[in-house]
Amino acid sequence: MVALVVQINNKMKPKYLNIIDNSAYLRNISYVDLAKQYQTPLYVFDEIELRENMDDFLTHFQSADFSCHTVYASKALLIPSIVKICKEKGLYIDAVSLGDLYVIKESGFPMNKVVFHGNNKSIEELKFAVDNKVIIVVDHLEELIDLINYCQENNQKAKTLFRVNPGIEAHTHKYVQTSLNTSKFGESIYDNERINLIMNCYKDNKNVKLLGFHSHIGSQIFEEEPFLLNVRKMMAFSKQVENLYQYPLTTINFGGGFGIKYLETDAGLDVKSLLPKMVELVKTLNKQLNLRIKDLFIEPGRSILGNSCVTIYKCCDIKENINHHKFLFVDGGMADNIRPALYQAKYSADIVMKMNDEKNEIYDIAGKCCESGDILAIDLRLPKPDKNDYLMVYSTGAYTYSMSSNYNNMLKPAIVFVSDKPKLVVRRQELKDLMSLYK
Ligand code: LLP
Repeated sequence: MVALVVQINNKMKPKYLNIIDNSAYLRNISYVDLAKQYQTPLYVFDEIELRENMDDFLTHFQSADFSCHTVYASKALLIPSIVKICKEKGLYIDAVSLGDLYVIKESGFPMNKVVFHGNNKSIEELKFAVDNKVIIVVDHLEELIDLINYCQENNQKAKTLFRVNPGIEAHTHKYVQTSLNTSKFGESIYDNERINLIMNCYKDNKNVKLLGFHSHIGSQIFEEEPFLLNVRKMMAFSKQVENLYQYPLTTINFGGGFGIKYLETDAGLDVKSLLPKMVELVKTLNKQLNLRIKDLFIEPGRSILGNSCVTIYKCCDIKENINHHKFLFVDGGMADNIRPALYQAKYSADIVMKMNDEKNEIYDIAGKCCESGDILAIDLRLPKPDKNDYLMVYSTGAYTYSMSSNYNNMLKPAIVFVSDKPKLVVRRQELKDLMSLYK
């Protein structure tokens, strides 16, 4: 029999997804074989696509006039295999906790290319960051005072950015908007009193240096305008501070937030077109405002990982309730992907071995957890699956494993990276792992 190969090129789905005889393959690797070999649920990343996504940022966030640095926002997924790829590609990495810093360091990453966030850093975290020459993004005045005290008492030096809130309303879910005036992150660029206190701390300080300001306007943003507005606001604010305090600023970090497609109907955002516009705007304003900004940072997370991964689940029973509403039960759920329950996030999916079958059924995809909200997708059109078929949920690379839990003592799934062949990069938890912390 001649195998029918159809290559799919839809950005929401893995770039190198093939259909061979009605079954889904990543290039020539069968998702069914992966599911059988590594058990389900299973996160399958295309390492080639992931690397190409990093390359897109490295290529398009570049300029002859500035040093442009792409920081991988590791909250999307922090595992040693990704840290190693970042190191190889020359990316920076961000961190949010001592645990993040530890994993990054243990993975052999150069710590002077780590950007340390967090709105409530402990002294222990500040100490680890300073001792390892990490770039610290100071969140607020009181944290700056702690950092200065630590550095002065221990005769240490620290390079910092200061997180400000530019007050930009990006159209995204309210839980991932970070730049409204009510946000817990950073200090408002309009709070002259606190900015004054902050700059007086920095001014003439020999230990703690301010490179420039950091902002992050939210996540999963599709429009270009909020990103460009952020550039304008951050440049104007840098100018205002330089003028008032005669403090030379060299750096701006514009954060992440570049949206990806989860559904075919999502608009998406073309970073290849946006990034050069951002850099061009900085260049124009740098001249106009007579600034000397030379280092630019962005922090993509989701857009590097999201579309390069699918989660494979086993299809279990189908339950039709009294209202003829159908639930397709799968062997995972909110423990491996909390996003639908937490943000009403929407996902698209297919039955791995019925890729071309007509989608004439409608299901809610329900997880195993003891929670009514444990629904991975609502009203999803699918062909009728047979028991033990596999369901493939698209775009699950970001904020899934990193936000996973052992709720109901569900075992955390394995992660496989596929290039020319599959490679297990995170093993599946075993039952005995569940007992490992208990005394
Ligand atoms: N930089 C900072 C300071 C951030 O707080 C974040 C995300 C990023 C960069 C990366 O944003 P990205 O490029 O991935 O959108 N758990 C939520 C998203 C939370 C985002 C937290 N901060 C979700 O699953 O949608």
